[in-house]
Amino acid sequence: MSVSVLAKNLRGSEIIKIAGEINELKRQGQNIANLTIGDFDSNIYPIPTELKQGIVEAYNDNQTNYPPADGMLNLRESVSAFLKSRYALDYAPNQILISGGSRPLIYSTFLAVVDPGDTVVFPTPSWNNNHYSDLTSANAIMIETRAENNFMPTADEIRPHIKGAALLALCSPLNPTGTMFNKKDLEEICDLVIAENKTRAAGEKPLYLLYDQIYSQLTFGVHKHYDPVTLRPELKDYTIFIDGASKCFAATGVRVGWGFGPANVIDNMKAIVGHMGAWSPKAEQVAMAKFLTNDTYVNNYLTQIKANIQASLNTLHEGFQQLKAEGFSVDSIEPMGAIYLTIKVDYAGKTTPDGTVLKTSADINFYLIKEAKVAFVPFSAFGTGEDVNWFRASVGASTLQDIQQMIPRIKEALSKLK
Ligand SMILES: Cc1ncc(COP(=O)(O)O)c(C=O)c1O
Repeated sequence: MSVSVLAKNLRGSEIIKIAGEINELKRQGQNIANLTIGDFDSNIYPIPTELKQGIVEAYNDNQTNYPPADGMLNLRESVSAFLKSRYALDYAPNQILISGGSRPLIYSTFLAVVDPGDTVVFPTPSWNNNHYSDLTSANAIMIETRAENNFMPTADEIRPHIKGAALLALCSPLNPTGTMFNKKDLEEICDLVIAENKTRAAGEKPLYLLYDQIYSQLTFGVHKHYDPVTLRPELKDYTIFIDGASKCFAATGVRVGWGFGPANVIDNMKAIVGHMGAWSPKAEQVAMAKFLTNDTYVNNYLTQIKANIQASLNTLHEGFQQLKAEGFSVDSIEPMGAIYLTIKVDYAGKTTPDGTVLKTSADINFYLIKEAKVAFVPFSAFGTGEDVNWFRASVGASTLQDIQQMIPRIKEALSKLK
């Protein structure tokens, strides 16, 4: 064996595999609407102008050496004020850690609280918890959620698994579903965590809660974002929040993430991020610190991006609901937040015009790519079984017009299945 057991067993991103297939068809001259990647086309969704200007200015000002290991103090101060004004959360700069996007924060949370063999509990579908569990040699307990609960986990589903667990990883609004916790369901889960921690001896590792709210500024209509610490302040000692600029400011390539939680855990995460060298670039931090404090710039940008994303998601949702009304075996769940729509294409067992039987959700997906020129991601890429015929549609890389045009193509492709 030429590499470590961990490296050998690590799975690459399933989404990137689908992207490879799409790129191959594109090379052959086909025009595929790509609703796979949880990213933005930056010509459709550029970052805020003032943020871009700030980054350029910071480079011109030679802000190019190492930033402090936990992030620039003025950025941590800006994040602290942002959390206070937008979430009524009280976190001092020493309880906040900046890193190069949010991924290093998730990985360092796992590394800081999970020992090899420890149990990590998370719902499926969800994003990358399986990979972070692999990276930390954790015992991953995946809870398959249900469409009737909008694919969010419930306390009843989690309860049997948290005795002795090291980490419960939750996300709302959720990637891949675009759905969110309601207040009552999240409260019940919070109470489970509190009850479990009451059973642990002094000095024993508590059950930590990783709460990924990276999409929390992108919520629609009546849907309100809830977080564990606001609902149950006593969870402040156990909750590590993951957040950042990647999604709300369409700044996935800018790489500024912020995590916050109990100072002792954040301190350990700081050392881990430091050893990985996963800092956010200094010029980007300088610019973000300035941008975040300008409420007008932030609000104007969020109003615009939310309106555009919501229009795309609603159009796709209405298109699927129309197909459903016409008798097609499809469905979709009302978009609540993030950049995703949850859709059902229930055509397993059907036969394509060339005689192939579609067995799995991946088969259905590749049929739609070839026949309807539309690519989604099956929930199996997010940890569910291959027989789950639900998919994620990500709208950040498409215009509203692209989305309007894809519905008739999907209808035609589905009509050909027998
Ligand atoms: C739920 C969730 N958390 C975190 C991230 C990571 O974001 P970043 O690009 O800041 O590393 C993503 C990216 O897709 C995500 O969907």
